[in-house]
Amino acid sequence: MKDVPPHLELLFTPEQIRQKVEELGRQITQDYQDKNLLVVGILRGATVFLSDLIRNFDLPDMELDYMAVSSYGPGTVSSGQPKIKKDMSLNPEGRHVLIVEDIVDTGYSFKTLIDILQARSLASLKTCALLSKPARREVEVPIDYLGFTIENLYVVGYGLDSEQKGRGYPFIAVQK
Ligand code: IMP
Ligand code: MG
Repeated sequence: MKDVPPHLELLFTPEQIRQKVEELGRQITQDYQDKNLLVVGILRGATVFLSDLIRNFDLPDMELDYMAVSSYGPGTVSSGQPKIKKDMSLNPEGRHVLIVEDIVDTGYSFKTLIDILQARSLASLKTCALLSKPARREVEVPIDYLGFTIENLYVVGYGLDSEQKGRGYPFIAVQK
């Protein structure tokens, strides 16, 4: 494993993450056995998690798309006004859609995505997030598949950034 730099404190090791992602992959595979799954990854934080997650699926007909919402400015405080910055390319009408996000914090990003997708005549909509910070929640959002619940901490690594840095760490760590 790459060393954890001194300004960070290790929270989840690559091995802990791997086991959790495998578990989620198994569960989702079971639930979507007879369904034509359309996974929608949320740029950019979810990309690392997503690429590991889909390789743990045994769903040969799964399709993949992306969306991007912005709720954060250059700092680490949510503005509470998420906007769609990039929409998906595939038509989700009549599809079984699973949104994959890195972390649910206030819930505003997820809420925005859920509201937008629910207006698109999907066959079903479920949500998956690697991390959740329930203490920070301002709007209630359903998380059907969740990796880890964490305290009110700012974390980086495994796709998660601090001002765009730190996404490439194979672990998840807390900013000291
Ligand atoms: P929400 O709209 O407040 O739920 O914010 C969710 C988004 O904020 C996530 O998709 C992340 O991009 C970002 N975010 C929230 N908490 C963290 C964190 O601890 N580390 C890195 N990004 C975070
Ligand atoms: Mg994000």
